[in-house]
Amino acid sequence: MILVTGGAGFIGSNFVLDWLAQTDEPVLNLDKLTYAGNQENLVTLHGDARHIFVQGDIGDSALVERLLAQHQPRAIVNFAAESHVDRSIHGPEDFIQTNIMGTFRLLEAVRAYWGGLTGDLRQAFRFLHVSTDEVYGSLAKEDPAFCEGNRYEPNSPYSASKAASDHLVRAYHHTYGLPVLTTNCSNNYGPLHFPEKLIPLMIVNALAGKPLPVYGDGMQVRDWLYVKDHCSAIRRVLAAGRVGEVYNVGGWNEMPNIDIVNTLCALLDEMRPKSGGESYRAQIAYVTDRPGHDRRYAIDASKIERELGWKPSETFDTGIRKTVQWYLGNQAWVARVQSGAYREWVQTNYAQRVA
Ligand code: NAD
Ligand code: TYD
Repeated sequence: MILVTGGAGFIGSNFVLDWLAQTDEPVLNLDKLTYAGNQENLVTLHGDARHIFVQGDIGDSALVERLLAQHQPRAIVNFAAESHVDRSIHGPEDFIQTNIMGTFRLLEAVRAYWGGLTGDLRQAFRFLHVSTDEVYGSLAKEDPAFCEGNRYEPNSPYSASKAASDHLVRAYHHTYGLPVLTTNCSNNYGPLHFPEKLIPLMIVNALAGKPLPVYGDGMQVRDWLYVKDHCSAIRRVLAAGRVGEVYNVGGWNEMPNIDIVNTLCALLDEMRPKSGGESYRAQIAYVTDRPGHDRRYAIDASKIERELGWKPSETFDTGIRKTVQWYLGNQAWVARVQSGAYREWVQTNYAQRVA
């Protein structure tokens, strides 16, 4: 079996669902169930013996040691993290705890477990660390896209904490020989995305008749990858990646934020037109920028294509259409994740931003 951490979050739950749709190899899913973790994402696996869910912290060494000894996974895919830049600006502590200390404790437990393995299990064991393009910092308009050899220049508490975790993973390979793989991926979008991030927030606010808060001038650029393509890249790296290597994963799809918002408005105008005939664009509101806002991210994903034959299978057009469709069809899911804690966050992040 494999151990997946953070498998109740956005990407982790998509990964677990896809994994079990494609293979019968069981998944042990360790997730703390923070505000971002949602067992409802995995409801279709209820009663499925191939999925074992454990609520717990990657930083709980005793728990992780016990789980490793009991289940003897052949690989670990580490998604567990605090993942939202704006939250890291308002409160960095949890990011340091989970992304740095949590990864460190997980690595220590895994090192001890791997050290006790023998034969084929030891040979084949892998620790795959899921990371982000944000560790490379911000690009100017004409700069080439991020390659695996780029300097780390993280600018937010989130990206700094992920950078620290990447360095620890690297060090555990170089120092102890732990067979690690690291993926650095661009912005994901798709089903089960918590509506604090740009794309789901805009869809959800548009449908609720609320303002669509665009930070600054809306010309910040991100590369966007459909989440199922990220999951297929991780499966590919796990199966065939060279130990100790880093693979950048991206969608070859750079877009300014305002173009994303306009695209979403146009799709909603088509798929769920407003009764008065007005466009959702009328709800766009430019608001105060994010402090330290990275201007541009872009991923050069040619290494993973060249070495492992992986390419995204969705274009942005096909992926974003599926995503809007999913949110239109899952409004009960949206309503349930908009709990009291979610409303508090919206108040914290948006109340002070001047339109
Ligand atoms: P998410 O915030 O939706 O989910 C994170 C999950 O981790 C949640 O289920 C949460 O309960 C769990 N978790 C948090 N702290 C934990 C802890 N201490 N122990 C165990 N579980 C814990 O995040 P996501 O968007 O699914 O991102 C998953 C991973 O992918 C993260 O490592 C993130 O840095 C990375 N990543 C995300 C993106 C993106 O666009 N979302 C892009 C590149 C890389
Ligand atoms: P986000 O989805 O938070 O991802 P990240 O900051 O990790 O790239 O934000 C994507 C982009 O959208 C980023 O440039 C910030 C911007 N943004 C807004 O303009 N308004 C919003 O309400 C949010 C959440 C993000």
